[in-house]
Amino acid sequence: MTFRRKNKLATKLGLLFLISILFLEGILFVVLYFGFLNERTKAETDALLARGNSHRDVLEKHFDSDTREHVALMESEAETEVVITDQENNILVHSNELTSAVQQTIKSSNTIPFEGAIIEGNWMREPIVATGSPIMKNNQVIGYVYMILNTQGIRDVRDHLTSQFLIVSGLALFLTVITIIYLSRFITEPLIHMKEATQKMSLGEHDVFLKEDRNDELGELARAIQSLSDDLLRLKNERSDFLASIAHELRTPLTYLSGYADITKRENLSPKERNTYLSIIKEESENLTALVKDLFDIAKMDQKGFVIEREKIDLCTLIRQVREKVTPAFENKGIYLLISCQKDIHITLDPGRISQVLLNLLDNALHYTKEGNTVLIDTSVNNSTVEVSVIDEGEGIPEKDLPYIFDRLYRVDKSRSRKYGGSGLGLAIAREIIENHGGSISALSHEGKGTTIKIVLPGDD
Ligand SMILES: Nc1ncnc2c1ncn2[C@@H]1O[C@H](COP(=O)(O)OP(=O)(O)O)[C@@H](O)[C@H]1O
Ligand SMILES: [Mg+2]
Repeated sequence: MTFRRKNKLATKLGLLFLISILFLEGILFVVLYFGFLNERTKAETDALLARGNSHRDVLEKHFDSDTREHVALMESEAETEVVITDQENNILVHSNELTSAVQQTIKSSNTIPFEGAIIEGNWMREPIVATGSPIMKNNQVIGYVYMILNTQGIRDVRDHLTSQFLIVSGLALFLTVITIIYLSRFITEPLIHMKEATQKMSLGEHDVFLKEDRNDELGELARAIQSLSDDLLRLKNERSDFLASIAHELRTPLTYLSGYADITKRENLSPKERNTYLSIIKEESENLTALVKDLFDIAKMDQKGFVIEREKIDLCTLIRQVREKVTPAFENKGIYLLISCQKDIHITLDPGRISQVLLNLLDNALHYTKEGNTVLIDTSVNNSTVEVSVIDEGEGIPEKDLPYIFDRLYRVDKSRSRKYGGSGLGLAIAREIIENHGGSISALSHEGKGTTIKIVLPGDD
């Protein structure tokens, strides 16, 4: 039952195989049986009749006992048999032993035309086939020549053919069973495993392991399902890691807030001290607001419906607008901000989003660069791309951290980043936006020397 239920496909294919083999074999059998065997017997009986007629011709000339004996002697050496009778069907001579079948056949024969006739042609049921030819003299029948052929030989051939047919049928049946086993092992079973794997996946289990060592379509399917499962597992892990990190990120400022709020409540504080604590509270809550806003941005970008509203703009104008926004902060810290921008770089992008990216990068450059140094925004146009780089002479990023800085919540020095209100989401958001524009973003950095963040955007053709 389970075999049948589980191996529907294999059974169907196997039965199809069996039916086609039996069908072909059946056609072959019918052709051989009715075509070949019938032809063969017809030829034999025709030959028998012709032979009987030729004996008859001899006997019409000399119907004496010597001639009759001579004919009988000739036939006794052949496969065929002859019986010669008088006009009353009384046997005069016969070449071989007279069996009851032969006697019976001769007795029951009716009038035979001059050209002779087949008096027994049913080779399938009767032990003999027989022909008869009348011997005439002066328009009077003076006797008969009967020719007899044993049908055992033909029936042997038929029996042989039938048993051959049965053997082939048995073989086909056996092959079918083998085929079904083979198909179920190599086709149905992998399919069932894959089905079970996808069912497991939809239930949220991801410890799926499929054999993928085949190099056919089923192997490809298994590999696709395996990588889907691996991806899902990775995404699931990433999501829970991310949630844990977010919880952690939120807890720290909230602890500060409640701590400082407690201190501020003390009665013996001077107004100056109270002011200091209140501004810390304000700063922390602003940081928290910024973090929540960044998280919200990230969440929006994760949704499929995240749209980029592109319009054709002049890149330098956009960069100058961004610079205006950050100039006070840079001047405050005593860092020079330079722009190198070719004229007329017209490009289609989402100006709001790209400004956000540049603000994030400049924010980092500002915070990780010491007073008196320079930050440069450089642009260049290549064949089909536009590059924007933010280059600083700051502290740089250690080589071991460099591959991860675009990951969500990744920060080289958590406490330092926190101090300025960083969330570790700035570069992740930047990368998301740039990739949504069909571009790429990368970092180059030497510790102690500075960092270059390079954006490559596809240009307008
Ligand atoms: N220009 C830079 N110079 C040095 N380190 C940088 C620079 N830009 C980014 N980083 C490092 O990469 C980390 C991730 O940056 P980002 O995603 O913007 O987070 P954060 O909120 O900490 O700024 C930062 O914490 C910092 O350690
Ligand atoms: Mg940042």
